[in-house]
Amino acid sequence: MSETNAIVIFGASGDLTRRKLIPSLYDLHRKGRLPKNWRIIGVSRSEFSDEAFRDHAEAGVKEFARASYDAKTWREFAKNVSYLQGDLTEFEQLQAVDRHLCEWEEGHGGNRLYYLSIAPHLYEKAVANLGRADMVHETHGWRRVVIEKPFGHDLASARQLNQAVHQVLAESQIYRIDHYLGKETVQNLLVFRFANSLYEPVWNRNYIDHVQITAAETVDVGHRAHFYDGVGVMRDMMQNHVMQLLSLVAQEPPASFQAESLRNEKAKVFSAIRPIRPQDVAKCTVRGQYRTYRDAEGVAAGSTTPTFAALRFYIDNWRWQGVPFYMRSGKALAAKSTEITIFFKRPPHLMFPMPEGDKPAPNRLSICIQPDEGIHFSFQAKVPDTPAEMRTVEMSFHYEESFGALAIPEAYERLLLDVIKGDASLFTRSDAIELSWALIDPILEGWDSKYAPPMNFYESGTWGPSEAEELIAHEGYHWTHGCGNDTEDSERP
Ligand code: BG6
Repeated sequence: MSETNAIVIFGASGDLTRRKLIPSLYDLHRKGRLPKNWRIIGVSRSEFSDEAFRDHAEAGVKEFARASYDAKTWREFAKNVSYLQGDLTEFEQLQAVDRHLCEWEEGHGGNRLYYLSIAPHLYEKAVANLGRADMVHETHGWRRVVIEKPFGHDLASARQLNQAVHQVLAESQIYRIDHYLGKETVQNLLVFRFANSLYEPVWNRNYIDHVQITAAETVDVGHRAHFYDGVGVMRDMMQNHVMQLLSLVAQEPPASFQAESLRNEKAKVFSAIRPIRPQDVAKCTVRGQYRTYRDAEGVAAGSTTPTFAALRFYIDNWRWQGVPFYMRSGKALAAKSTEITIFFKRPPHLMFPMPEGDKPAPNRLSICIQPDEGIHFSFQAKVPDTPAEMRTVEMSFHYEESFGALAIPEAYERLLLDVIKGDASLFTRSDAIELSWALIDPILEGWDSKYAPPMNFYESGTWGPSEAEELIAHEGYHWTHGCGNDTEDSERP
């Protein structure tokens, strides 16, 4: 048999496998992108026959795959899907999984991707067991381990986890997933910035006034309350997804498109961000909780877990000195919208006749990560048939219009393929994880101390507590709401 490629999903009975992993692998198969001789083996503690697991997976594909379900393609795909009951934290059970794989590989070895879709507190033990069972040696084919977020719950635990996995695996075998990096619109940030010559010359403190990054969700914590309570928005969204967006907006051009080069630039940005000291949290951050959060099953009585956060960072380097980066994220907000908006400075002088005190809006570039993926640039245009009246108008790019409705694949599709190809560019390196935690930790520490800002309660379906507006209004700005839909200005007075 030629080289085999096993995709072993640990924690296969969970939601992630059904909603994201299997549908993405199915889409990759449909596009002919999986390598030859591939096989998916689901492993978890639940009892499933192969047949029952395939039915479970099929339902996920019907509901979540990008392209419409096709019975023939499914049958071809399903032939390579099987299930093993087992717990990878139990050494003997893991050995049984290994024996099963060896049989399939017919003793020739083969490539293996181990996907840890398990509870984060089991990562250390799981990786240690993979090592102990001798399942990670790369003598006959590659061995790669995918680790889902959250990677640690603070700097100390992230460090400890990094040390533990490095005892068993080389960094090149570890793929720490942040699914935001698999989003097309996020990857496009680098193309937009560095494959066009127009923006890079003005992408700095001389022309950019401030930057806003919003990751807003309408969903509340719902049935995930057990997981979410005690975690909160800073660990769930800020430390990873939102910080990744910030790094892509703020980083220097990498010299090459190689993983190390790309990841070096990210680490440099994180090291240049000025940490918010615990004693400054009331000045630089806002925290909130939607009013009905404490009613959810799984939330501790009187919980102070934040479901909303807004904050301001500065980056201490030549490019960004003095430019505020405002970031916010929350659950149960008015809209699902992830966007980055760059506000440019005003022209130094305006010679146009204008009513006293009137100022045209400055240029604004809105990068819509989701759901209406695209880019909007707003600028001033002369209103026809007036001497010099101006109005803000917009140039827009929508993925759907330019590339078609189904052009954007599921983020996991790209990420899984990259693991198979051995390209770690879109995965987080150990140093970046730790640097990012080093920026989040002091905020959480401040929120737990006498310096903490009050917990602000907000109504579901709003844009969070009004204090978030005050944080930014203080410097004369206001948050943009809805990519490209907000024509209001955000400016310094
Ligand atoms: C996950 C968080 O990482 O990202 C969830 O744990 C959040 O709480 C989700 O809802 C948001 O992802 P997306 O792709 O829907 O923006």
